[in-house]
Amino acid sequence: MSSTSFTGIPVGRLTGIVAIAGLVSLTLLYFWTSPLTNCPPRLPQFKQLSDGHHEDKNNSIAEEKVVKPVLLLWVWPVNYRFDFKDCKTVYNIDGCHLTDDRALYSSSDAVLIFHKSISWDLLNLPQSPRPSFQKWIWLNVESPTNTRKIPGTENLFNLTLSYREDADIPVRLRLTSNKTPNEDFKIPKKDKLVCWIVSNNAAYTGVGTRNAYYNELKKHVNVHMFGKAYGRFLDYKDYYSTIASCKFYLSFENSIHKDYITEKFNGPLSAGTVPVVLGPPRKNYERFAPRDSFIHVDDFPDAKSLAEYLTQLDRDEDAYRRYFNWRRHFSARPHLVVQNQEFVLSICTACDHVARHKEYQEAHDIYEWFFN
Ligand SMILES: *[C@@H]1O[C@H](CO)[C@@H](O)[C@H](O)[C@H]1NC(C)=O
Ligand SMILES: *[C@@H]1O[C@H](CO)[C@@H](O)[C@H](O)[C@H]1NC(C)=O
Repeated sequence: MSSTSFTGIPVGRLTGIVAIAGLVSLTLLYFWTSPLTNCPPRLPQFKQLSDGHHEDKNNSIAEEKVVKPVLLLWVWPVNYRFDFKDCKTVYNIDGCHLTDDRALYSSSDAVLIFHKSISWDLLNLPQSPRPSFQKWIWLNVESPTNTRKIPGTENLFNLTLSYREDADIPVRLRLTSNKTPNEDFKIPKKDKLVCWIVSNNAAYTGVGTRNAYYNELKKHVNVHMFGKAYGRFLDYKDYYSTIASCKFYLSFENSIHKDYITEKFNGPLSAGTVPVVLGPPRKNYERFAPRDSFIHVDDFPDAKSLAEYLTQLDRDEDAYRRYFNWRRHFSARPHLVVQNQEFVLSICTACDHVARHKEYQEAHDIYEWFFN
């Protein structure tokens, strides 16, 4: 005996009709929500519909596109805009739908909030209620020295994004191992011994330590200085080629914190230059790069002995070349001519995370964690 619904149509057939209606509206919704139109966003309804059609393995590309979680970038860090497609082309990350369109707020699976842009009154944070499925991501690529605690934001977030390995979303360019040894690496042509690019040398950023070391070092070896802070502005597109033309690069972090190893280290490493690092202890660096790929200032009793060692390596081609042996077995991501790489990488990494994780999460007392 077949049951009938209150409309009098057998339930089986009714289900069929509903399914067809669903597909039709699905198609319509797709066209309505296509970026060429100005219709209000309808992603949530769309998502529910497509979820109901899991079993249909032959779904259109249109549907696949929309099933991707939506990641809303609330503000552009330092106002630097890039094409979201770069996540795919540069890092092969494509798992979420990235947008900066605040009209999509209520349908966004996650909202990425740049810490530095949060105003003290918090009024530039999203003001509408947060949907129950939505996660807020705290985006902060600065070290504690350069991070301010903003009252009222301690328990707002679900996920932390930082250079720290124990962040929910750790962000870092990593070396990858080669399956077969790479014999092709050639050390770029060098015409300078030691270089350093400094753009921000304001004392408040905590640069005292590195400047003191530099002032001592330069007494014993010539350092080619570039960057705004030294009146020799370097265009971003010349950044890697400049680094590559030096045998050594001073990868001096502005402040010293666990895991705070930035582009100042990755840049020279990928450009084919030996980084001379000042930052957290050597052991910390060795978590991310082979021990013989860099020189640590702590390897020497003082700046003078470091200078002597660099000068000695300048004359000993074989010893210098050994700093690149790791290149046979590991690859550094080829340097990218992307300005503000740390933000591009952060946003893309967040996208990748959101695509892979749907579970409930709260980030309790972010400052308690971050400053300790
Ligand atoms: C998907 O569609 C193609 C042709 O349109 C068909 O050959 C294939 O069997 C379908 N696969 C499934 C799982 O329905
Ligand atoms: C996100 O965090 C907030 C506050 O900590 C919490 O109320 C909310 O349920 C969390 N949401 C998800 C989806 O994890």
